[in-house]
Amino acid sequence: MIYFAPLEDISGYILRNLINSMFPGSDRYFAPFISAVKPGMKHKKRETEDIAPENNDRTRLIPQILANDPDSFLNTTKWLIEKGYNEINLNLGCPSRDVVARGKGSGFLSAPEKLDSFFDEVYMGLRDHPEIKLSVKTRIGSRDKSNTGDLIRIFNRYPLSEITVHPRLGKDFYRGKPDMVSFQRFYEELKVPVVYNGDILTCEDIRKTEDSYPRIKAVMIGRGFLINPALAREYKGGTPLTVMEIREFVQNLYAEYRAKLGAEKYALDKMKELWSWLKENPLFTGKQRNIRAILKAKNHAEYESAIIQVFRP
Ligand SMILES: Cc1cc2nc3c(=O)[nH]c(=O)nc-3n(C[C@H](O)[C@H](O)[C@H](O)COP(=O)(O)O)c2cc1C
Repeated sequence: MIYFAPLEDISGYILRNLINSMFPGSDRYFAPFISAVKPGMKHKKRETEDIAPENNDRTRLIPQILANDPDSFLNTTKWLIEKGYNEINLNLGCPSRDVVARGKGSGFLSAPEKLDSFFDEVYMGLRDHPEIKLSVKTRIGSRDKSNTGDLIRIFNRYPLSEITVHPRLGKDFYRGKPDMVSFQRFYEELKVPVVYNGDILTCEDIRKTEDSYPRIKAVMIGRGFLINPALAREYKGGTPLTVMEIREFVQNLYAEYRAKLGAEKYALDKMKELWSWLKENPLFTGKQRNIRAILKAKNHAEYESAIIQVFRP
């Protein structure tokens, strides 16, 4: 199976739905994390919109929560259950300094005992909801790998539905290569189904990963989809991405962002962020100068004229 990774500020429902309709192939989409809140507090408007069932009726969406206290996690989980979700993913990977400083995301991995009691309380709190699946998306550690054994033992103690492993440390952010020796250890020792995530960019990368780890449940792809939105379609035997399709994709996406995000600047910033990845696609070899003009565009008119140049044969 192919999973679409959560990408904060990028893979919101507008992008997910467009990719799903133009380039079907991902079996599941993971929403960027929602910050858990204590009972009585409101979730952010942007996060609420992003997981609203009416905005996600065409995709199989798994919401993800960022939390390190069971009360907030359970409160947000119950809010998601009321919206009809039956699988919730816990973020144990976010490397952002603020998040790590608060002991969340990859920062939670340096407190294995706390993580153990977190799961204990969460499963107690969900005992009236046996239908709810909890999954985890984790890195291999926060600052070092000294507690890998503890983490694996903790994960194995609970009935998690699956664990996605992005084999980097939190402190590595996205630098260096995935640590495949550590991934092998998680793959061999975890009792729950494992999903591989990290640096998958081509169909060949997907095939190699599936061949090397035949028991993995899925491959999760993030940045690879921003460089080639049709990667899952291609992998499943569909036609390769064309320049014309990218043109239609960015036109539709920009139109939707302009219609739904309000200020012109928001739509422009979102498109520039996407182009900063899309430019890596080999279909744009020789077009880098034009793409730089997109990335520098200060307004709608500059963006549109740069786009015309990029797609001029
Ligand atoms: C801009 C950006 C935002 C991300 N946001 C999230 C997030 O909200 N939740 C999460 O679990 N991972 C997040 N990630 C990590 C990705 O889901 C993924 O684990 C990572 O990019 C490695 O996979 P890839 O090489 O296929 O991109 C983010 C990564 C990037 C680059």
